[in-house]
Amino acid sequence: MKIEHIIAVTALVLLTSLQTKAQKTLAEATKGKFLFGVAVNPQQVNGVNPVETELIAKEFSAIVPENCMKPQPIHPEENRYNWDDADKFVAFGEKNKQAVTGHCLMWHSQIGRWFFVDAEGKDVSPEVLKERMHQHISTVVGRYKGRIKGWDVVNEAFEDNGTYRNSKFYQILGKDFIKYAFQFAHEADPDAELYYNDYNVETPAKCDAIVELVKELKAAGCRIDAVGSQAHMHMNSPTLEAAEASFKKLKDAGVHILITEWDISILPSPYDGANIAANFKYSKEMDPYREAIPDSIQQKWNKRMLDMFGLFLKYDDVVDRVTVWGLSDNTTWLNNFPIRGRKDYPVLFDRNNQRKPVVDEMIKMAKKYKK
Ligand code: XIL
Repeated sequence: MKIEHIIAVTALVLLTSLQTKAQKTLAEATKGKFLFGVAVNPQQVNGVNPVETELIAKEFSAIVPENCMKPQPIHPEENRYNWDDADKFVAFGEKNKQAVTGHCLMWHSQIGRWFFVDAEGKDVSPEVLKERMHQHISTVVGRYKGRIKGWDVVNEAFEDNGTYRNSKFYQILGKDFIKYAFQFAHEADPDAELYYNDYNVETPAKCDAIVELVKELKAAGCRIDAVGSQAHMHMNSPTLEAAEASFKKLKDAGVHILITEWDISILPSPYDGANIAANFKYSKEMDPYREAIPDSIQQKWNKRMLDMFGLFLKYDDVVDRVTVWGLSDNTTWLNNFPIRGRKDYPVLFDRNNQRKPVVDEMIKMAKKYKK
């Protein structure tokens, strides 16, 4: 071999090993601090796009199903369950040795109307609704007993002002529906962790209401391991201070914290909640980055991601998991929420499934993080 060849080969080997070093994943960097997860869809589990499947298996230590375990998809009619996607999802997590979260048992959205009405279309009695909840929860949780690390038992029961959401559950059963859901879930899988999950947990009145709920559930003898803060964020809200204040309150209440649906929308926002019924009219002004993101805006987004990630690290004694809501800008739900057809850039992989530069910064932060 000529000397030039030897030099070229050596350089290549060195470069590859350097790249592999830089290629450490967030799952590895956050090991021992918290799990690092991602929401996945059935196409990703089925390997329709093998690049996405591989990234999910390699880069994350936890997964949650973006839709397939919600009440409507998994239980569309009283006597019919769809297990296919959920079965494959759970098996995928096991194969990749990932922590598997079930999302979600009781939620006012994505639930069949049948759940709340009788044959005439009238609201069912409290007894019937309670029995349907029991049937649903024991069947779904029971099927995956021992295979799911924890369940989002109730999703979004509060308004931002801290009052109970006037959902069908609340109208028919009052706030006790939450307690029943936790009891049924625990009965079906005593070893599974149980969570209450909501958006805008950083809003003080909502956070206070959640803390109160945690206390009530504990006083009633229910298991509750953590509060899930969805953390669907924007460029200016919530502030870092508001997020930290909510962490402090939850920590003081003796409950752990999960960041369950993290994304930071880079787009202007007409609405800062995550109620999926919200829907605003499209306009070009609300969709300013179709071609590219100006550098100053990109830098601002990067800084916000790093500030928030720093907060998660600071509270790693109580933060058990950080999950990003979707793998890439291509698949993020925010391209269609709360305005359909926009181009958002809220997560960690770009439209070509390339890891964004901010991930390397996060990895560095996690690795050298010391309190
Ligand atoms: C979203 C999914 O990402 C979308 O694909 C679906 O169309 C609507 O729901 N809060 C939650 C999640 O708890 O389940 C929602 O997921 C986003 C808001």
